[in-house]
Formats: sequence, structure tokens, C-alpha cells
Amino acid sequence: MNQKVENALNEQIRKEEYSSRLYLAMAIWCEANGYPGAATFLYEHADEERMHMLKLVHYVNDRGGQAKLLEVEVPPLNYASLTEIFTEILKHEKFITESINSVYEITLNEKDYTTANFLQWFITEQIEEESLFSTILDKMKLIGGDKAGMFHMDKELEGMAAGTGESA
Ligand code: FEO
Repeated sequence: MNQKVENALNEQIRKEEYSSRLYLAMAIWCEANGYPGAATFLYEHADEERMHMLKLVHYVNDRGGQAKLLEVEVPPLNYASLTEIFTEILKHEKFITESINSVYEITLNEKDYTTANFLQWFITEQIEEESLFSTILDKMKLIGGDKAGMFHMDKELEGMAAGTGESA
């Protein structure tokens, strides 16, 4: 496998692993701070990020490379509010989208069209994730700091976790 492409994929593996840890840290905060629905949603999302990581790991290995696990930092453990959490998630997903786009660009420069094709799944996934989190955040901004509203938002997130189990 092309070394530049393999390095870029390994770096993406690191970022997906970090995403999983980030959402796990957020789920833990939600569970400890009275938002069980958001916690369920985020625990599930942490699993999805691990699935993204594994998809990349298997791809690198299947193409004759060997996936590398790189150092992953500890994510922030404390948050001021649910709105802060979802603001950070949207920001993080935009960063991941940029990262996937950069890896895609590398594959094109290296004429590795097979990997470019493989990355299409991630490109579509990022569109879905950004759209989902931006919808959730818009709702939270409408609610503002209202406690009853946030209680309902928490329930809604629980329903989203149970209902779809997909691109959340
Ligand atoms: Fe793996 Fe949420 O992007």
C-alpha cells in the first residue's frame, strides 16, 4: 500500500479513536450530571466512532498494510452544560470532515483510486453527522437554559439512540 496513504489512514484511525474517547467522556459527564438520555445517545455514538476506527483498521490490513495505533490524548472530562457538549461535538465533527477530505486529497494525488472510493462512505457519513448534530444544537439553542426544555431534549436524545442506532 502507498506509504503516504497508509500514514494518512493511520492518522485517521487515531482521530476516530479520539472521537470515540471524546464521546465516551461526554457520555460519562451526562450520566453523572442528570442527563441519562444524552448519556445513552453518546455511549452509542462512542461505539459508532470505534466502528469507524475499525473500518479503517480492516481496510489498511486488507490492502496489505498493517494498521498502527498511535497515541491518543485524554479528552476533556468536565463540561458546563449539555449545550456546550453539543457545540463541541459539532465543532469536532467539522474537524473530522476536514480531515477525511485531506485524506481523500492525498489518495487522489497518489492516484490511489481504490482508497478514494473506500473513503466515499466516510464522506457521506460526515454529511449525515454534521447535519444531525447541527439539528440537535439548533433545538438546544431554541430551548436556551430552560430546565423543562432540557429535560425533554434529554428524553428526545434517548429516543434517538434507541430508535436509529445508525449515523447518529
Ligand atoms: Fe467518525 Fe463522527 O465521525
